Amino acid sequence: MNAAPKPVPDGPPIEMPRTGWLESLRLALEYRHRTLELLRGLSDRHGRAALQSTGLGPSLASLFGPEANRFVLLDVERQLSAKRAWDFIMGRVFANGLLLRDGADHRQHRRTMQSAFHQNALRAYVERMNAPIAQVVDRWEDETADFRAFPAFKALTLELACSIFLGVDLGSETARLNRAFEDTVAASMSLVRLRIPGLEFDRGMRGREFMMDLFGSMVPSRRQGDGEDMFSRLCRAESEEGDRFDDGEIVDHVIFLMMAAHDTTTSSLSSLMYELGRATDWQDRVREEVSAPRLAAPGFDDLMGLELADRVMKETLRLHPPLSTIPRIAERECAFDGFRIPSGAMVAVYPLHTHHMEEWWTDPFRFDPDRFAPGRAEHERHPYLFVPFGGGAHMCIGHRFAELQIKAILCALLRRYRWRLPDGYRLPEQQAPIAKPTDGLPIRLERIA
Ligand code: HEM
Repeated sequence: MNAAPKPVPDGPPIEMPRTGWLESLRLALEYRHRTLELLRGLSDRHGRAALQSTGLGPSLASLFGPEANRFVLLDVERQLSAKRAWDFIMGRVFANGLLLRDGADHRQHRRTMQSAFHQNALRAYVERMNAPIAQVVDRWEDETADFRAFPAFKALTLELACSIFLGVDLGSETARLNRAFEDTVAASMSLVRLRIPGLEFDRGMRGREFMMDLFGSMVPSRRQGDGEDMFSRLCRAESEEGDRFDDGEIVDHVIFLMMAAHDTTTSSLSSLMYELGRATDWQDRVREEVSAPRLAAPGFDDLMGLELADRVMKETLRLHPPLSTIPRIAERECAFDGFRIPSGAMVAVYPLHTHHMEEWWTDPFRFDPDRFAPGRAEHERHPYLFVPFGGGAHMCIGHRFAELQIKAILCALLRRYRWRLPDGYRLPEQQAPIAKPTDGLPIRLERIA
């Protein structure tokens, strides 16, 4: 159990409990693989807030629980910067993406981008999804002997990104684009951020340059056309105030969007397959829900109406939020819950930790999709308790799209296959920067006649 929350101190903010530099260093080094265990250890010892400093970068103020999520994500006093935090993490490889903007600049870009995520746009994207999903998922029949879910979903979501985001079949360029993505994402995690040929960071920057050239060359024709893909919509997008994106902005946004969509959706789908591979009773229940003939090629309304699929998806996102950690930088000294946050500190909240808090969830480590059922609705116990998509000004702009895509793929999978985990399987999960199974997630797939 977590420690009982400490009372909020009266008077001026007090110093946060600190971890020593050696422990801070150990936390930083082990964070990727033991994320939840380390976070629970920190909050058990210190309560709602703890300050870590290795002396190498900015100190890190870790804040725990739904109130901390509200404080950071809503940022009522406008004292926390998403741009500075994400710039620090991935600024050079994913420069100028929507998340790497603050304040009025962010609001203006988000308003302009919004038209690519309106309901009509989502309806059109769903229409384009079913054929490529069916094609790819059918091919998995030949791979059942050594099927690995993570790389399979990665290839599928990239193919969907090409058709839905870019509106093209890149053919042989798809493999190059995939590599460019892998390299840019890896580079955003590089410790050495110098362009030394052959090293990870340089490969990532080359990947970015490849995408800039490829996407840049597509802008002029997309501006003229009436394409229904996301890229074309961004080229034509106009806010109510008449703002439009220039060519460079479009390219930066598309690179960021593809990254934001790709790894997070792949992560969610792998986790979903894992959970349903364990809870085969739930797998059967959802299969029955999606067995109606019209769901062979589900439309927007069909997907929105799937209740059980929605519950298992939400429960998976609770247990395995793709983004375990959401960072900001304090623009000035501020206070949370009576504790002083130093100016310039990295401030982080943790969906992964909040989603496993015993004081809020019933038996939080158990896969129990019915906790999201009407009547129980545990996620409604606090508006910032269930935050796989964040919240506030930077809440995921693609969250509806992601949910539709996950459900469409789940329908296709359940109608074609039954699956289970290998005997005695234990999931080796890396939770940061994006949750993923480090062994690719072997799955026993069986084609349904
Ligand atoms: C299951 C899949 C996904 C998850 C769990 C997820 C999660 C998140 C989270 C937690 C944030 C907020 C980060 C922060 O506040 O620092 C975010 C932001 C964002 N996401 Fe997603 N995301 C997913 C899929 C997508 C998709 C499919 C797209 C695009 C099609 C997308 C585009 C974005 C963008 C552009 C932002 C920045 C929004 C802003 O700054 O206003 N995401 N996402």
